[in-house]
Amino acid sequence: MFSYLSSTTILLCILISYNSVHGWGSDGHALVASIAQTFLTDESSTFVRNHLPWYTSGNISMLSSWPDFILYPDTNPVDYLNWQWSKQLHFVDTKDWACVYDREADCNWSSGQQCVDGSIQNYTKRLADSQQDDVQRQEALKFLVHFIGDAHQPLHAGFQGDRGGNSIRGHFFSKQTNLHSLWDTVMIERRITQDFHSQPALYLEYLLKQMKTQYAQNISDWTNCSSSDESRYLACATLWIAEDAKLNCDLVYRDENNQPMSVSKEFELGQTYYNTRMPIVEQRLIQGGVRLGAVINKIVQTVGVNNKSKKFSFGATALIVAIVSQILLLILLLNYRFISKKESTPKRSSANQQQSKSFSTV
Ligand SMILES: *[C@@H]1O[C@H](CO)[C@@H](O)[C@H](O)[C@H]1NC(C)=O
Ligand SMILES: *[C@@H]1O[C@H](CO)[C@@H](O)[C@H](O)[C@H]1NC(C)=O
Ligand SMILES: *[C@@H]1O[C@H](CO)[C@@H](O)[C@H](O)[C@H]1NC(C)=O
Ligand SMILES: *[C@@H]1O[C@H](CO)[C@@H](O)[C@H](O)[C@H]1NC(C)=O
Ligand SMILES: *[C@@H]1O[C@H](CO)[C@@H](O)[C@H](O)[C@H]1NC(C)=O
Ligand SMILES: [Zn+2]
Repeated sequence: MFSYLSSTTILLCILISYNSVHGWGSDGHALVASIAQTFLTDESSTFVRNHLPWYTSGNISMLSSWPDFILYPDTNPVDYLNWQWSKQLHFVDTKDWACVYDREADCNWSSGQQCVDGSIQNYTKRLADSQQDDVQRQEALKFLVHFIGDAHQPLHAGFQGDRGGNSIRGHFFSKQTNLHSLWDTVMIERRITQDFHSQPALYLEYLLKQMKTQYAQNISDWTNCSSSDESRYLACATLWIAEDAKLNCDLVYRDENNQPMSVSKEFELGQTYYNTRMPIVEQRLIQGGVRLGAVINKIVQTVGVNNKSKKFSFGATALIVAIVSQILLLILLLNYRFISKKESTPKRSSANQQQSKSFSTV
């Protein structure tokens, strides 16, 4: 019940503070999810509709940034502390300039370390498992949609020494940023603003066209997962992260003169970096989408669309309590919005900046 409550809370927060959160980290995830959605079979569409809150109508894009929103007081004032355990599930650190992913050394599962590849394995299994109750499976789907996106952002497998690029600071077209944010949001936002009239939907159309033309020959390769237990649901996360590690050394961590970037020197990047790296960003968004779609289809194909949870998650009383608290919360939030509207504009924009910083860490 708690996570049902919090997901509704998040939605309310998103709706209410829409202006302040829009675009920060969410465009990339929404695009990956929307690309995946186009791959879903009829059975998969029904399955995701059954495993998401009713108000999404099975649109996996709508809650694709939920795992980020739950982490921060700005977006989840009520219970962000309860979700801090999930922070480490969004990424994995790799050895500086090793250019490979060494799963044993970089994320030692046997010693209890948790990283994005392990969480992808965890949540594919949980989504497919009818022993999990409805709330747990819904949570698994939301996490899975998000983490497969994260696994395709090269800096979510960035270097340990600079916290995945978060500690490498500099300027992009003269604006202050850090390398991690640049790849999470800044380049994507620039692309959407400049070339697609600030409309993510038009950008999605473009990416889908790229997928069907330029990358048409690659799709079967990208969804090939031939190794080990990961292949069960085609969730080859280790392979995807190995791709990140290579991209990091070849392109992500290199400036416009092909020199390695580091924490000790501020970067100055602009048109050249943007022109050469943007195609990689787009390729990763498309790859993430194609693979997420394939994984969901594979799960549904394996367990069946009518694979109902065997456990009931909450009874009628709990439901009433949930609804009443939601109404109370809504009233509270509406009040809050009314008050914050009266506040001066500068204060709002500084809250905004803080938020973009906090999103850049995972
Ligand atoms: C799904 O939700 C996204 C918002 O994340 C929206 O842009 C998109 O239009 C929705 N898709 C459909 C088919 O309703
Ligand atoms: C991983 O953790 C296990 C258990 O703590 C330990 O025995 C093993 O040496 C670790 N492996 C590496 C590569 O650090
Ligand atoms: C698997 O998911 C559960 C439920 O969200 C979580 O408590 C656990 O830490 C996860 N394990 C790993 C290895 O990600
Ligand atoms: C896509 O396929 C082409 C032709 O087989 C290949 O040259 C290219 O490297 C592939 N690209 C990716 C990113 O896999
Ligand atoms: C998948 O990849 C493996 C090894 O890379 C290869 O042997 C196999 O033929 C591929 N399968 C398909 C269907 O492409
Ligand atoms: Zn994330």
